[in-house]
Amino acid sequence: MCGIVGYIGNLDSKEILLKGLEKLEYRGYDSAGIAVMNDNGVQVFKEKGRIADLRSIVDEDVMANTGIGHTRWATHGVPSTVNAHPHQSNSGRFTLVHNGVIENYDILKREYLQGVALQSDTDTEIIVQLIDLFVSEGLSTEEAFRKTLTLLKGSYAIALLDAENNETIFVAKNKSPLLVGLGETFNVVASDAMAMLQVTDQYVELMDKEIVIVTKDAVQIQTLNGEAISRDPYTAELDASDIEKGTYPHYMLKEIDEQPLVMRKIIQKYQNDQDELTIDQEIVDAMNDADRIYIIAAGTSYHAGLVGKQFIEKIAKIPVEVHISSEFGYNMPLLSEKPLFIFISQSGETADSRAVLVNIKEMGHKALTITNVPGSTLSREADYTLLLHAGPEIAVASTKAYTAQIAVLSILAEVTAKSRGLELDFNLVQELGIVANAMEVLCDAKEEFEDIARKFLSTTRNAFFIGRGIDFYVGLEGALKLKEISYIQAEGFAGGELKHGTIALIENGTPIIALATQESVNLSIRGNVKEVVARGANPCIISMKGLETEEDSFIIPEVNELLTPLISVIPLQLISYFAALHRECDVDKPRNLAKSVTVE
Ligand code: F6R
Repeated sequence: MCGIVGYIGNLDSKEILLKGLEKLEYRGYDSAGIAVMNDNGVQVFKEKGRIADLRSIVDEDVMANTGIGHTRWATHGVPSTVNAHPHQSNSGRFTLVHNGVIENYDILKREYLQGVALQSDTDTEIIVQLIDLFVSEGLSTEEAFRKTLTLLKGSYAIALLDAENNETIFVAKNKSPLLVGLGETFNVVASDAMAMLQVTDQYVELMDKEIVIVTKDAVQIQTLNGEAISRDPYTAELDASDIEKGTYPHYMLKEIDEQPLVMRKIIQKYQNDQDELTIDQEIVDAMNDADRIYIIAAGTSYHAGLVGKQFIEKIAKIPVEVHISSEFGYNMPLLSEKPLFIFISQSGETADSRAVLVNIKEMGHKALTITNVPGSTLSREADYTLLLHAGPEIAVASTKAYTAQIAVLSILAEVTAKSRGLELDFNLVQELGIVANAMEVLCDAKEEFEDIARKFLSTTRNAFFIGRGIDFYVGLEGALKLKEISYIQAEGFAGGELKHGTIALIENGTPIIALATQESVNLSIRGNVKEVVARGANPCIISMKGLETEEDSFIIPEVNELLTPLISVIPLQLISYFAALHRECDVDKPRNLAKSVTVE
């Protein structure tokens, strides 16, 4: 989703801004722009398409020490150069980039901007025109900025330039993520530390309804009412190499391959000196105090939550409900007496999940966030956090975060179970070690998955994933992976559900990817495969060692049955990857998608 960068210092800002925007490309965008400011005023360059398109129109001769930049993922107004940010007020004095959605922009337009000819269809332009209006009525820039912010309803991260003051970037945040980065002779602004890691690893988090006056020598954080706030910076623990592709053609492939390493890192991070798995006692207490757990998540994280429910119910014996965050607000179930909410979010910024978090906190309930990003909004605002330790996930299609989420959920279930005196018939550390080895075997079998993708998916318009029990949940994730990066219409179904309608879609050659990793349902899922084959389907069965038959396309190594999602998903990730490659799709940046979905 939209990304913001800003630089103020002694160097020429153009290249720093463009490089920063390239680092934010992974979030998903459809247009981009920068505005640079020097003694001659502000110059704006913006373009529909990729950062490379923007680069090609930036005037290399312009030198400016101050600038802001933006990648836009369209919400109000189509993707176009006019709607791309930065936006300028009609006088040309103010230039602004914005991430978020201004819900009352139409009301503000009618109330304040009747005579103003707007240039774009965006909600953002209202902000910059309002600031200009209030300045023309006699307010200083800072006063006009504050006044405008108090009128806005919705979410925003904003960076503003005033052509009459080229020593300052005005910044504000509400609900949308934004950080200020600190340097010796410069300061920067970024939606994500990754963007500005090129110049600094020192960042200050901003809270909602704060504004920041950023100059090259100082960063003044204030409340909307002007009270000064002091906050220590933190070191962004990102290794620049973590966010590079290295020799890989795509981030997605790199991230798939990183999964065995991530498993081992998670084991290490959650182990104590006695080699036992451990988590903060207050989280264990919160789990034990709860009479029911509500998992809230979206997309792939929701699919990980479905698997997590199995762990928590089967291992720790606490009832769990799993909800899609965007639906929870409307369809809130009757809550139990002592609920505990678990938010699962790779980015920790998903607006739909955050809306639920705000709501349940207001109701007085406790929340645990499981996230890959320390200091993210969902982490900060929940009572407790468990980190995924998966390293930055850049490809839009989530892979290593999914398996990391499942691994952390298994640890949460195990530690809780032990604290309740429940006997486990397996050693999770050992089992996760076996999983890591099995993952390596699968990552080494890329050619086979490429063949499967070619054989089953190179020309098809649709595909179905089926499974029973925990395999059904993995099938849902497999279908999401395939559709999001290859644009093949793919759906996941419970094997037993096919006969209740979906089987009508089976035609000659329809690919059916069936998972058979669970002994208790092995015969039933194979029965479902026979039913679709009888109607012309082309079956690709992925089974687990010990359950295989001759008709299977791939046999995954044997791991603990409950943990099979950690490895059965890898063939599905790789098959989706190769299917997308065969179709010449943009694997890392699929159309219409954003990595961090920061609007509801
Ligand atoms: C799919 C994918 C999305 C995310 C979803 C939630 O590959 O990445 O479905 O899982 O947008 O994002 P987070 O986990 O950041 O809350």
